[in-house]
Amino acid sequence: MHKKWWKEVVVYQIYPRSFYDSNGDGIGDLPGIIQKLDYLKELGVNVIWLNPIYKSPNADNGYDISSYYDIMDEFGTMEDFDKLLQEAHKRGIKIVMDLVVNHTSDEHKWFLESRKSKDNPYRDFYFWRPGKNGGPPNNWTSFFSGPAWEYDELTGEYYLHLFAVKQPDLNWDNPKVRQEIYKMMKWWLDKGIDGFRMDVINLISKVEGLPDDKEGEKQGGLIGFRYYANGPRVHEYLQEMNREVLSKYDIMTVGETPFVTPEIAKLYVEYDRNELNMLFHFEHMDMDCSGSKWNIKPWKLTDLKKIMYKWYLALKDKGWNSLYLNNHDQPRMVSRFGNDKEYRVESAKLLATLLHTWQGTPYIYQGEEIGMTNCKFESIDEFRDIETLNWYKEMKKLGKSDEELLEILNKRSRDHARTPMQWDDSENAGFTKGTPWIKVNPNYKEINVKKALEDKNSVFYYYKKLIEFRKRHPVIVYGDIQMLYENDEKIFAYTRNYEDERLLVVMNFSEEESEFLAPKEIFTQKPELLISNYEIDDNIQEKIVLKPYEARVYKI
Ligand code: NOJ
Repeated sequence: MHKKWWKEVVVYQIYPRSFYDSNGDGIGDLPGIIQKLDYLKELGVNVIWLNPIYKSPNADNGYDISSYYDIMDEFGTMEDFDKLLQEAHKRGIKIVMDLVVNHTSDEHKWFLESRKSKDNPYRDFYFWRPGKNGGPPNNWTSFFSGPAWEYDELTGEYYLHLFAVKQPDLNWDNPKVRQEIYKMMKWWLDKGIDGFRMDVINLISKVEGLPDDKEGEKQGGLIGFRYYANGPRVHEYLQEMNREVLSKYDIMTVGETPFVTPEIAKLYVEYDRNELNMLFHFEHMDMDCSGSKWNIKPWKLTDLKKIMYKWYLALKDKGWNSLYLNNHDQPRMVSRFGNDKEYRVESAKLLATLLHTWQGTPYIYQGEEIGMTNCKFESIDEFRDIETLNWYKEMKKLGKSDEELLEILNKRSRDHARTPMQWDDSENAGFTKGTPWIKVNPNYKEINVKKALEDKNSVFYYYKKLIEFRKRHPVIVYGDIQMLYENDEKIFAYTRNYEDERLLVVMNFSEEESEFLAPKEIFTQKPELLISNYEIDDNIQEKIVLKPYEARVYKI
């Protein structure tokens, strides 16, 4: 058995901008996180993943870095960071940083230099190319709408940006770029951080020649992905990074990787490949859309089960899965996969049960532990996210109405995840004494941390219980999974087995009562109920009738 600390932990993701504002400027900050460490300790999480806190002009909220060695002005100082690291470690909580190295900000000194002239020593740190037929060098499109190229008058060439215009892509084929990045990673690791979440790390190697893609062959709404997703030299680079940096520290790594299947994922995470520990894939995030994230369709439980089981089987004994249902780029999970109205509490607990009893490392996104929901945005002025705003502008040009667009954005915008953390029922949900940088979800009087801590049946205490449970039951981490009811559209059920411990997990993903017939060999053993999201006192019968969004975990 391949035992590792990063398999046994629960990670809590903090979006610092929206977590807690200590100085009243309306923006969350590092001292604010320090003030809330005891809250996270109480919840029981072992690791914090911080979204980017480096110096940044914030075109994409910190994913556009202008200096890797400095802290974003709004978030505080390097002293604040050192204190955060120290205070977290004191409480037994590790800190994982976001590593954003597919691109920098256009205000990074490397880019400022590279822009100056065609023979600048930094020119080759990025992709500069002459135009073609009066337009950009190729037909690739950007994740944030429009072409992936920007023309620069000074030298009369274009530069590549897979994301925003202010996020030029670094040229990893240049060994000097790689060495600069490794040096920077070591600098942070030597400070004592405990790992990296690597932003779009499977996009760093582009096919030589940057060829045109076939028009119309989009993936995720993009043209060009096949020439940079899981590109030709990505494994060579990650193995080099592992050899030169990662392998020298006892840390955890998780790569964010759009466009991966389990077969591709194996190449990144299998133990003997010496690349990364785990990945964030997107297969389950794509279940409820077709073509692009904006094209929404209903999702099916059987699809979720198939995807999760397929990933479990593919990486079993060879690699490791990460488990998430939302993050700073996704809608709130209870609004998307549960019911954020009459069954908000029940469905938030049900989804938590899945994440914390499946095999893999669970990632909790801030606010998930109190069942925070999507926000109702009333007009386009209330949105802040660059992806949302660029897409809106593009769609307006195509003649779409505000009404139509708002309906989609109210399901899909990344801003649902970015409304401030709801701490209490005072003004601005207790997030700031100033004016918050983004709208506070109006439901904060009902859904907030203070209220959750006062209610023993809250979503918070359910998470706490699941986290504790994981610590005491190695079966959760290391146990095999056997699926039951594979083709059922309402029931998600499986057993977990490890050494002499065996668990049964049964969940009803629907608003109706649903029946579960336990296999005879299970109910005759008089299973003991360990966890449930409703008050029940029965032990298992042959037939269980599950209430809406009911979840139960039994020891067999
Ligand atoms: C993925 C990050 O999660 C997202 O927030 C960001 O906008 C892009 N990568 C670009 O860095």
